[in-house]
Amino acid sequence: MEFSIKSGRPEKQKTGCIVVGVFEARQLSEAGQALDEASGGHLTGILRRGDMDGRAGTSLLLAGVSGIAAERVLLLGLGKAAGFGDRAYREATAAAIKALRNTGARDALLCLSELPVGERSLAWRVRQGAIAAADASYRGDRMKSVPDEPPRPAARIAFSAPAGREANDAARALAEGAAIAEGMNLARELGDLPGNVCTPTYLARQAQKLARAFKLKCEVLDRARMEKLGMGSLLSVARGSHQPPRFIVLQHRGGKAKDRPVVLVGKGITFDSGGISLKPGPEMDEMKYDMAGAASVLGTFLAAARMRLPINLVGLIPTTENMPGGSATRPGDIVTSMSGQTIEILNTDAEGRLILCDALTYAERFEPDCVVDIATLTGACVIALGHVASGLLANDDPLAQELLEAGRCAADRAWQLPLWEDYQEQLKSNFADMANIGGRAAGTVTAACFLSRYAKKYRWAHLDIAGTAWRSGKEKGSSGRPVPLLTHFLLHRAGWL
Ligand code: BES
Ligand code: MN
Ligand code: ZN
Repeated sequence: MEFSIKSGRPEKQKTGCIVVGVFEARQLSEAGQALDEASGGHLTGILRRGDMDGRAGTSLLLAGVSGIAAERVLLLGLGKAAGFGDRAYREATAAAIKALRNTGARDALLCLSELPVGERSLAWRVRQGAIAAADASYRGDRMKSVPDEPPRPAARIAFSAPAGREANDAARALAEGAAIAEGMNLARELGDLPGNVCTPTYLARQAQKLARAFKLKCEVLDRARMEKLGMGSLLSVARGSHQPPRFIVLQHRGGKAKDRPVVLVGKGITFDSGGISLKPGPEMDEMKYDMAGAASVLGTFLAAARMRLPINLVGLIPTTENMPGGSATRPGDIVTSMSGQTIEILNTDAEGRLILCDALTYAERFEPDCVVDIATLTGACVIALGHVASGLLANDDPLAQELLEAGRCAADRAWQLPLWEDYQEQLKSNFADMANIGGRAAGTVTAACFLSRYAKKYRWAHLDIAGTAWRSGKEKGSSGRPVPLLTHFLLHRAGWL
């Protein structure tokens, strides 16, 4: 999908389809009014006759409207003007893209970025418009021998913006939106791939491919290297699988040589069966998404590199399967992590923290400004926050606030949970420095408590994306979250937002 900005009078725009909004109570947007005038009241006539009333989710396609240069006009219902906010705007954009699919238009002009969306700037509206449009055109049918429906989406999408200084902001925002959309797309594709295709080896190849395309530094450590480094915790998870584990190190050096990097750590469990503490059967297929944290790191690298963000960025991806097997780790086994701390593994299904802790120790060598890990870590987070917000826990409040703000700005929100000392005692083990589980109570917090013990040397935050990385049920599929949050965080850090 290709994006551009167009300024100028709506009725003069040569395009396959011009999309204009109608609010409830049959109220035309500004662009709609311009088209109405140019067509001698054609649109108001339609509204008056009751063929379109502006309810959200409705649309009406008109062809060959006289006085208008566009081949088609799509009237798009926007719902109530008063409540038109972030979500309604993104849903309207997505609805436009989906409606265009059923037309012959190969290109389109969306006159939606001119609409007021709360207090959001034009740049925000254009950036989010590009993200929502790309998101709506994603297809999860890569593994199907015949695609789901005729693939004829509008390939070129233009967003309307007034000419002048604001148009420059819009152009820049569009480039950012396109980069974020591309990053989300990569994250979604990797997430949706099944565990028999998207293995640790596959993820490593994708990282290397990304590195070649964007001149990033990429190193892939194999089992022998991990053994030398003493990553006993990570390796204990890999023991049950025939797939060799990998530890991926990616670097984008856009800042000054001495700038401390932001380190992103992504959980890369390419399939989580639970191991010997085997998960129940229903919905176990969704555990192919247990590498969504890793996918979001790769997607964020793609976006950051595409934008040439002037910051130093390190990506660490510990990746393995979690499988049962004759050599698999047993409940009760005690392992030694790279940090030297010993762990009693009481439940092999709490494997995410076991691979992340060694990555957090490895992160020390980069003398990071801060470290953010991203993980589908706990089912408890889905219970606490559902599928709306990602969980956020941090050992540094300014860093937490930065991430929360990035999430609000990106419409990819997170919500903070406490990381109080009081919870740490739940991890007490009689036989090792700590247990890998802390009981049923506050499962998301105790998982973060476990990680915090490996993140003592730098500012650190943890995003639990168990509820936000993918959708279940009929609409099952990867969401691409939290690539928008992470990219906005980096954009803020680069001083671009
Ligand atoms: N990958 C899962 C977490 C998960 C479960 C995410 C369901 C999304 C949906 C993680 O490895 C896990 O199994 N966590 C356990 C931890 C427990 C054993 C302490 C969980 O949440 O049940
Ligand atoms: Mn698990
Ligand atoms: Zn897991």
